[in-house]
Amino acid sequence: MSSRPPIKYVSGMPILGDFAENWENVKRFQARADDILIATYPKSGTTWMSEIVDHILSEGDTVRTKRGAIYERVPFLEYAVPDMPTGTESLNLLDCQRVIKTHLPVEILPKCFWDEKCKTIYIARNAKDVVVSYFHFYRMAIVHPEPGTWEEFLQNFMEGKVAFGSWFNHVKGWWNARKEKNILYILYEDMLENPKREIHKVFEFLGKKESEDEVEKIHQATSFQAMKNNPMANYTSVPGSVMDHSVSPFMRKGICGDWKNHFTVAQNEMFDAFYRKEMADTDLTFRF
Ligand code: PPS
Repeated sequence: MSSRPPIKYVSGMPILGDFAENWENVKRFQARADDILIATYPKSGTTWMSEIVDHILSEGDTVRTKRGAIYERVPFLEYAVPDMPTGTESLNLLDCQRVIKTHLPVEILPKCFWDEKCKTIYIARNAKDVVVSYFHFYRMAIVHPEPGTWEEFLQNFMEGKVAFGSWFNHVKGWWNARKEKNILYILYEDMLENPKREIHKVFEFLGKKESEDEVEKIHQATSFQAMKNNPMANYTSVPGSVMDHSVSPFMRKGICGDWKNHFTVAQNEMFDAFYRKEMADTDLTFRF
């Protein structure tokens, strides 16, 4: 029998069982005006953007960007697993400017982030590569329930029955919110296509001046290969009770289109039909 924790629900959203236990602390969390929030649906480029923002704030100091693992430098707001500090505990201890990771859908993000007008960077990735990446993540990050077969996982993803709920609601909700809030909305596929262009956008959004040399250095330091080889970025320092890298590495492929190696023709047709319906009410588009 599996000892993996079950999914629970908070505010109508499926979430990891242990995370649900800490939900009251997330609701009570106090944002600060200079907090920078990195919001994503899981597996959409959170770690990549976290490294970029930490590099920007560190102004090229590569000793500083190696001061801790990415989950310590950019704590995960709703994180809670046994025998590790929760996200809210880690964040409350930081007395410098904080960069905060969240996977929450926009409608249940604690209101304090809007009250404080925190700058928020949202990264969205195409649904097909997300579900593939998420499937492998469920397999290796053993704080998740068993993913089941690929077929079963794909079905659960479409129905929004995976941790953090429906990808469709998530990307559309944040897309709509960007019209009123201080949100930079970035696509993972754009980052892949022209990383330096997207790094420039982040500098501008954060109100920081950059040189080409700085952008080039950040581009090099945050490439897939550099991050895969960097123990402070690749999650290898996480306890084995949380992630089993022998099942699948966290830094897995980092490409657009790996879904073609997973979807059958029938699954792709079924997914496309569902996708068209779910995305009919938005002008948000993705490259696959
Ligand atoms: S998490 O667990 O939700 O925070 O994961 P997240 O960081 O959002 O997404 C992990 C996927 O992003 C890929 N990744 C990158 N791709 C390209 N370049 C860089 N630098 C990079 N860093 C992380 C990572 O490999 C995961 O995607 P897959 O498709 O599984 O490889």
